[in-house]
Amino acid sequence: MKTLGFLGAGRLTQMLAPKVAKAGWKVVLSNSRGPETLRDLVQSIEGDVSAASPADMAAQADIVVLAIRWPQIAEATSGLPWSGKVVIDATNNRLGPKPEDVIDIGNVLSSEVVAGCVPGARLVKAFNHEPIPVFAQTLPPQGDAKVLFLAGSDVEANARVAELMRNLGAEPIDLGPIDKGGKLIAMGGALANKFKLFSPDEAKAAIEAAS
Ligand SMILES: NC(=O)c1ccc[n+]([C@@H]2O[C@H](COP(=O)([O-])OP(=O)(O)OC[C@H]3O[C@@H](n4cnc5c(N)ncnc54)[C@H](OP(=O)(O)O)[C@@H]3O)[C@@H](O)[C@H]2O)c1
Repeated sequence: MKTLGFLGAGRLTQMLAPKVAKAGWKVVLSNSRGPETLRDLVQSIEGDVSAASPADMAAQADIVVLAIRWPQIAEATSGLPWSGKVVIDATNNRLGPKPEDVIDIGNVLSSEVVAGCVPGARLVKAFNHEPIPVFAQTLPPQGDAKVLFLAGSDVEANARVAELMRNLGAEPIDLGPIDKGGKLIAMGGALANKFKLFSPDEAKAAIEAAS
């Protein structure tokens, strides 16, 4: 049984964790306030679900999902054992859906900033490219297999995240390294914020149009 750890236990985690647990993965949740504050959430999710401190979560997890808001990333990731760890960057540099909620980070990709906070991690960008309700309503068991994009420079790390996506009943598409594929699913990217998950044919057409 594989273990998915979540750094942050808010809206994104509460959408994804039940689906991952249902798919047969062990799930470990964490936040800044301690595992006891997550007791009700843990009990509300069916499956092998527990809560731990961020350090214990990171030590147990095969893959860690960064599910924290942009301003908290540096503090939340500080001092955790990142070396060699497969890390899903699900974050975006925004505080909400409005244009004025975007946090200006200049001419760099958000995942390049995140990579600097998780030294030695094998970073894969994923689960960031649509609003939470789109993932919630479109991923199985609600519908047919839909495409989830991922991007990262470590091919084997990408394959592990793709396996997680397949376990969720989705069809993964690896878009390649962060500076190319990651750009397509970063905020403002050609494959981001379509307010739907694509079918495999739609995804193929969208990738062709984007490149
Ligand atoms: N909103 C969307 O539709 C959407 C879609 C895709 C991706 N995303 C991205 O997903 C990320 C999470 O968004 P969200 O809406 O789930 O945020 P959220 O509901 O505000 O949850 C953030 C979580 O982070 C925890 N946290 C804060 N500081 C922490 C620290 N130092 N250490 C550990 N945990 C900490 C918070 O718990 P405590 O305060 O109790 O620690 C909370 O559980 C964001 O980067 C967002 O851009 C959002």
